[in-house]
Amino acid sequence: MDDKKIVFSGIQPSGNLTLGNYLGAIKNWVSLQEDYHCIYAMMDMHTITVRQTPAELRRRTLEILALYLACGIDAENNIMFIQSHNPAHAELAWVLNCYTYMGELQRMTQFKDKSSRHAENINAGLFTYPVLMAADILLYQADYVPVGKDQMQHIEICRDVAQRFNAIYGDVFTIPEGLLPKVGANIMSLQNPVKKMSKSDPNPKAYISMMDDMNVIAKKIKSAVTDSEGVIEYREGDDTKAGINNLLSIMSAVTGRSIDDVVKDYAGKGYGDFKGDVAEAVVECIRPIRAEYDRIIADKAYLTEICQKGAESARRISERTLKKVYKKVGFVV
Ligand code: TRP
Repeated sequence: MDDKKIVFSGIQPSGNLTLGNYLGAIKNWVSLQEDYHCIYAMMDMHTITVRQTPAELRRRTLEILALYLACGIDAENNIMFIQSHNPAHAELAWVLNCYTYMGELQRMTQFKDKSSRHAENINAGLFTYPVLMAADILLYQADYVPVGKDQMQHIEICRDVAQRFNAIYGDVFTIPEGLLPKVGANIMSLQNPVKKMSKSDPNPKAYISMMDDMNVIAKKIKSAVTDSEGVIEYREGDDTKAGINNLLSIMSAVTGRSIDDVVKDYAGKGYGDFKGDVAEAVVECIRPIRAEYDRIIADKAYLTEICQKGAESARRISERTLKKVYKKVGFVV
């Protein structure tokens, strides 16, 4: 192998992929593929920590793969696979469970948040979600994990567990680093712009799905919540400006221009004009991806081939780590 470093990341197929996922994650992944060996997975095992409709989960898993491809991730030089196709994830997660403390897991913001939202189903999988995620990353000896800000706590726990394990058994795991995207990291809800744009938001007007029709996208942007001040200005940390801040971030991310540059164009102009332009820019950004996506999703044989090939490579790489771990802890291998 050459000396390129390894990047690992993944998305849960738990809802429609949003503009936030594209700008905050996948777009960044596309640019990483030149400099790193990239492994991108569909995290179906994480998804069932919250009840899913089986047929939808199956459909969405392949939709994510098609979207990765449509966005420009190259299947020849990177590995794309479905998490449940590689049993090593569950196997390593079990071992790591025995090296993770209850207290560490209890502190996780996502656990507290999800258990309050799904009070009727606070299952053990939801609690140990970060351990499975640590296994995902450590199996491939990943150096970098590009994720959104909300996932940094998971990266921290992964590092802590890996370091704890290494301290006992020697250098088994590479200690990974989280990689925050420079732009597009914080795409917020269009209806409540102090909250992250989420694919599981009950209000579909709050997010732009990559599967939305172009006219729906435009409408959603035009009805985004703003403020009554009428000034197009970026004010970091000012919650009353959260809506405009968000639209400026979106505009900047889809056009590749700096926020300052965009702000200059709108001196003295109204929100109506601005929203119209943002809507147009977003539609122009998504349209070609969508066309490519529609072509790829129709080709089930191609998708199956990619995830089979991906799973084989994933199993091959992770087997080395798992064997080493089993040997270290004292299993007969
Ligand atoms: N928890 C991540 C999210 O919700 C998804 C995920 C699971 C992941 N395993 C991962 C991301 C490993 C990066 C690396 O976005």
